[in-house]
Formats: sequence, structure tokens, C-alpha cells
Amino acid sequence: MTITQETYETSANYLKNLVPKEFQTVKFGIICGSGLGGLVDTIDQSTKVEFPYETIPGFVSSTVVGHAGKLVFGHLGESRKPTVFMCGRFHFYEGHNLQQCTLPVRVMKLLGVETLVVTNACGSLNPEHKVGDLMILNDHLSLPGLAGNNPLIGHNFDSFGPRFPPVSDTYTYNLRKIAFKAALEIGIKQDDIREGVYAFVAGPSYETRVEARYLASIGADVVGMSTVPEAIVARHCGIKVLGISLVTNAVVVARGKDAKKEVLVELGLSTEEDTEIDIEGYKANHEEVLETSALRAVDLQKLVKKFADLI
Ligand code: HPA
Repeated sequence: MTITQETYETSANYLKNLVPKEFQTVKFGIICGSGLGGLVDTIDQSTKVEFPYETIPGFVSSTVVGHAGKLVFGHLGESRKPTVFMCGRFHFYEGHNLQQCTLPVRVMKLLGVETLVVTNACGSLNPEHKVGDLMILNDHLSLPGLAGNNPLIGHNFDSFGPRFPPVSDTYTYNLRKIAFKAALEIGIKQDDIREGVYAFVAGPSYETRVEARYLASIGADVVGMSTVPEAIVARHCGIKVLGISLVTNAVVVARGKDAKKEVLVELGLSTEEDTEIDIEGYKANHEEVLETSALRAVDLQKLVKKFADLI
């Protein structure tokens, strides 16, 4: 399906016609990543309105376990801020193109969104970023984007933004400061909330060891398979973005055992022992990602709520 201006407008008008008056203009949006969709269970259930993705014109369906696949309107936090939530998102690795993956962001723009929080699960490359830590995105690195998979490739929708948008300030400084204040206010320890660089990879296979070392060596602290296309499209249309990562696993960066050394020792041809660690047991897996998300979801939910109250 080719996406046109009309596609975005049809989606937005469909939603505007169905939501109660109080959600006809929403200024705040949240994209909930792996296992973080539980945030909508903590909002006022009496005013909540839900739309499964497959019922919204122009939306594709999310296929990932742990991603519910619905757009929710509700009141968030003590300030009861009218908010639109994406529970579950579309990933490049599901086979959708990046225009399809990011369509909801432009729909949010048409609904009135001015500030977007994008959350994700990620693997850490930087040993200081421990499993369970939260990380506020300071910047991102997109190898798929640099290699030709940028969501803005193709027709430029001038009504949304310019052909060549700057992205050097993708993650708004002021929002990052508010996020840190919110984190400290709700009692997250200084060492458990970080700021850093998120590397976007296409997935769905996790990184090889040398890919992980490469990403770390060019400046990434964590790696994940989402967020960046949505953040770029949001910035293109003037939405301010806060990115929050939850570190769900440590990525294997060790070189791993050296088979040749081992064989030479076994055959008595060398005495030089292999000092590399056995990486078995350290491999990334989706269950671990979901488990850590579930354990830390409450803090992340509290943080987003407090942030909503402070902006
Ligand atoms: N790599 C890529 N994406 C991820 C990871 C990872 O280790 N963990 C969660 N999402």
C-alpha cells in the first residue's frame, strides 16, 4: 500500500470522530516498547478508549509477543494529562517498511501531539550500563539509516516537515533534564538511571560478538531494534522527543573461545592456554528481555507518569 497524505488524514479523522471530546486534541503521546504496555493498566480505566491496530485505517498489525497492538487514549498521572499511547509498535524486522512502522507518529501529529516519549528494551554494550538500568537517550546511531533505510526516504510530505531535517538535537535537552528530575523525585538511584547513545539495528537476529564490539567502538552504549525511525519522523514534523531505554540484557562483546588454541593444547603442540571466556549462557534471548522488562516496568511506568506531571 502506498502511503499518501490522505492515508494519515483518514487515520486521524477516523480516531477523532470516535474519541470523546476530551481526547479530540491530545498533546502528549507515548510509544510503549517490549513488555511496557502495562502503563495503560495504571491509568484511569473509566475514561480509557482503545482501538486495536487492525481496526484503524492505514495501520498494519503488530506481530511480536509482548506487544499488545492497540492505540489507547486516557488520562495519565496526577495531572490527568490527556495522552495517546501506542501499546506495541511496528518493527522493521516484522517486514513492514519504515513508512508503515512510523505512520502512527504522523497520525499522532495530526491529533495534536507536541511531545512524544518513546520507550524500548535494549541490550547494553557499555559495561557501566547494568541490566535493569534505565537510560535516557542523548543521541542515536543508525547504521540502517546511514546505509539507506531512513524513514524519510521517498516523497517528502512538506506539510509535515522539510526535505532535509536536522536531527542533531533529536532528543530534546530540556525534556532530558525533566526526565532526570522526575527519576530522582520518584526515588530512582543516580546509578540506576543513565544517559547514553542508542544504536538502532534492523534485527531480528541479535548482534554477533564483533558487531557488538563494532557498535561499542563507534560510540554506542546500548543497542535495540526500534525507536530511531519513530524519533526521526517525530522530529521531522516538529514533535519534541524523549527516548527512554530499559537495559534488559548484556550483549556479548567478548571474543569467545579460540578453537585453534584449544586444539593445539589438546594435541600437546602448544602450552598456551586460551584465556577467553566461554560465551555459552550469555547469549541474548527474547524471554530474558521480557523478564527484565516485567521486573523494571513499574519504575519505568512511575517515571513516565512523573514526567507527564512535570511537562
Ligand atoms: N540487541 C538488540 N535489540 C535488543 C537487545 C539486544 O541485545 N535486547 C533488547 N532488544
